[in-house]
Amino acid sequence: MRIFSGIQPTGRKHLGNYLGAIRQYVAGQDRGESIYCIVDLHAITVPYEPSELSRTVLDTTAVLMAAGLDPQRCILFRQSDVKEHTELCWLLTSVTAYGELGRMHQFKEKSAQQRDFISAGLFTYPILQAADILAYQTDEVPVGEDQKQHLELARDIAQRFNARYGLTFTVPQHRIPEVAARVMDLQAPEKKMSTTGGTELGTVLVLDEPNEIRRKFTTAVTDSGRDIVRREDKPGISNLIEILAAARGIGPEEVEKEYSDAPGYAGFKRDVGEAVVGLLAPVRERYVQIRSDEETLEETLARGAERARRIASETLKQGRQRMGIGSGPSRAVPSS
Ligand code: TYM
Repeated sequence: MRIFSGIQPTGRKHLGNYLGAIRQYVAGQDRGESIYCIVDLHAITVPYEPSELSRTVLDTTAVLMAAGLDPQRCILFRQSDVKEHTELCWLLTSVTAYGELGRMHQFKEKSAQQRDFISAGLFTYPILQAADILAYQTDEVPVGEDQKQHLELARDIAQRFNARYGLTFTVPQHRIPEVAARVMDLQAPEKKMSTTGGTELGTVLVLDEPNEIRRKFTTAVTDSGRDIVRREDKPGISNLIEILAAARGIGPEEVEKEYSDAPGYAGFKRDVGEAVVGLLAPVRERYVQIRSDEETLEETLARGAERARRIASETLKQGRQRMGIGSGPSRAVPSS
């Protein structure tokens, strides 16, 4: 089985990324052939700082390795190093409907955040994401819940291409975790945790110091009452229950049972903080060491890109042939 996923380059990866996605990337290494990509070409679809991009790619690479990605057991690479992604993206634009792109939640959200310029890249972003996935004949894509719609579009694109040009792409499945698929902001639990749209205090970063993590959990907003149960009118507590369950690797109903006699929220919030510190502190420690060796990080990405290219170029060749692009065997230029 082949597993593929992509992640945006920022040094500010948060608990949502970690629980929703990064942990499943690590587990994927035991489940199949795993390929992970740091998507710098997606990052340029919104305002960004060019002088920082290559650094943030290395930050993200180091976070992923500190979390447990092992370049001996997976392919880890930078998207822009494998030019097949952009060419395949262009081919796929012809089987993507304009209307589909306009319906994407992420486009609506992100375009609403832009003040005076909405790039066309932000609109076509999901086609590049589909190209990332389809280039590797991917069976399974581990992602958080917010990527579900993009994954459905990638499936539609693959199916439409296969129907129009003949079987070319594997139709991928998403793999969304049962718990913590959508981690919410600790200060505004109606919003998903995010470094772009969230609050500073409500966003727990993978690289936060332990005391900072504790502070963020003790100040997390809760709801009225004192019951520790998941309920629609208790978004803050429901979120904390999910986080604790994910951190401990148990079901949320077990957390509810354990805290059914709790006298209030304070001790519970402290426990969630400690569980998250236990999860993230070792990642932070390994990060410091891994990030300090830039040469090895660059080498890792270069080796990953080489391996990725071998697979992606094969898929692209087939895609081009099916579409009649370039000089295929049946359309050789007649010799004069
Ligand atoms: P990105 O970089 O925003 O997020 C990386 C992963 O983290 C998940 N995630 C969350 N999970 C739970 N709770 C949250 N609050 C939360 N916030 C983010 C995301 O679902 C994602 O899995 N478009 C993608 C990057 C991408 C990609 C791909 C993903 C590009 N090409 C191909 C899969 C396959 C993105 O912006 O992820």
